[in-house]
Amino acid sequence: MTRRILIAGNWKMNTRSAAAASLAKGVVEAVGKSPAVEIALCPPSVYLATVSEVTAGTPVELGAQNLYAAEDGAFTGEVNAAMLTDVGCQFVILGHSERRQLMGETDACVSKKLHAALAGNLTPIVCVGETLEQREADETESVIETQIRGSLEGLDEARAAGIVIAYEPVWAIGTGKVASKEQAEAVHAFIRDLLGKMFTPDVAEQIRIQYGGSVKPGNAAELLSQPNIDGALVGGASLKAEDFAGIINAAP
Ligand code: G3P
Repeated sequence: MTRRILIAGNWKMNTRSAAAASLAKGVVEAVGKSPAVEIALCPPSVYLATVSEVTAGTPVELGAQNLYAAEDGAFTGEVNAAMLTDVGCQFVILGHSERRQLMGETDACVSKKLHAALAGNLTPIVCVGETLEQREADETESVIETQIRGSLEGLDEARAAGIVIAYEPVWAIGTGKVASKEQAEAVHAFIRDLLGKMFTPDVAEQIRIQYGGSVKPGNAAELLSQPNIDGALVGGASLKAEDFAGIINAAP
């Protein structure tokens, strides 16, 4: 089974409209017309439309960083799946550790969002990852298992194959401390095995599992060449077109 590598840039709460447009232009120019890998940019929601104007008709896709799991209505400050597809999104990042830690998102809340994303024709990128404390206490696998089982609650086999999981060890996010290829591959293999038990081994083989946490042009090649690492969710290094392109070019 060949899974197409997916490199996504999570811009987090960065850029302004002019910078967002020029960063997106830089990425579009750098990747050309037929990149070997799938590429997505995930700007802040207020700049989705700006970036969409630049990426429309190019191989670069668009993703949001969050959604609210409800139809249109009285939900002040929120944005739903229909709005995200309306501005051109194909992807949505869900359950990022920053949202789990700062906004109190739980697995149950991520699962609601997952179903809303799928119902709205968005591909969810579901983030999971352990803290340093949990890794040192040897709890990585149990933490990841709880997050995956909870976040994917109620997901059926038919839809599972199309989702994306991002393994982002919290201790590697924005710290410059990247997981070694062995550490990352071990957790990715664990996740795939778990998905095989939750769904079927065949479905698990189809699910893409990205790594995220201090991915840079210099460490991307070794991470992306691991058998169970199917892409990268890139934070800091996605804010410079040159660095992001360097990561894309490092894909095997
Ligand atoms: O979602 C991407 C992420 O959290 C990793 O961030 O800055 O370590 O690449 P960074």
